[in-house]
Amino acid sequence: MRLKFLPSFVKRRGRITKNQEENLKSISDYSINNLNQILKELPNFSYCCLEIGFGNAEHLQFQAVNNRDILFVGSEVYMSGIGTLIGNIKDKNISNIRIFPDDIRILLDEKLQDKIFDAVKIICPDPWPKERHHKRRLINKDFLKSIHNSMKDQANLYISTDWENYAQSIKDVLKDSQYFELSKRTFLKKEYLTKFEQRGKDEGREIFEFNYQKKNQ
Ligand SMILES: C[S@@+](CC[C@H](N)C(=O)[O-])C[C@H]1O[C@@H](n2cnc3c(N)ncnc32)[C@H](O)[C@@H]1O
Repeated sequence: MRLKFLPSFVKRRGRITKNQEENLKSISDYSINNLNQILKELPNFSYCCLEIGFGNAEHLQFQAVNNRDILFVGSEVYMSGIGTLIGNIKDKNISNIRIFPDDIRILLDEKLQDKIFDAVKIICPDPWPKERHHKRRLINKDFLKSIHNSMKDQANLYISTDWENYAQSIKDVLKDSQYFELSKRTFLKKEYLTKFEQRGKDEGREIFEFNYQKKNQ
């Protein structure tokens, strides 16, 4: 058994189109497997931002195209989303996105002294609304502990959710966190709603947004 975590996602493969399948053949040209690979690229960029669970990657590519001096690391397990992103990277000549095509907790579990990320964004993590599934939610005490390791001091942590009950649990776990504090600043404004934020809004739910910063260690 490779994973020591409960899955925080619903499906990994899903339906894959011919184009996505074709794009996925060149995944190794666009992906990173460990934190050291990101570290080596940092001198070429001003900042580094991690987006966890990028879905169809619209938000990730929008920010990358408009901020060429920032290195964006995107993490997703959903293969069709990764296939779509690779197609867009090729079509639009995007050179500042690297993909971690697996559970982000594997990457964040690495022990590295150097701090990498100026910002981490998690937009609509899977809500797991049933109480018996709450333990599968990504944002919890263990996750905050592992994520803080690779973030710089005062790095921004942005989270949004359209599930009130998840919003409350995010607030609670971050209030008790020794690693993060509330912040008024955000790293790069979100210009529009993502697919899941829009779906939540269309279904009458409020979008809750949180900005925290990593405490100085
Ligand atoms: C509800 S969707 C939101 C997608 C996108 N952020 C949006 O707002 O449209 C959550 C995404 O997070 C991904 N995800 C869940 N757990 C993950 C993990 N541990 N590592 C990487 N991605 C994960 C899922 O595969 C899914 O695509």
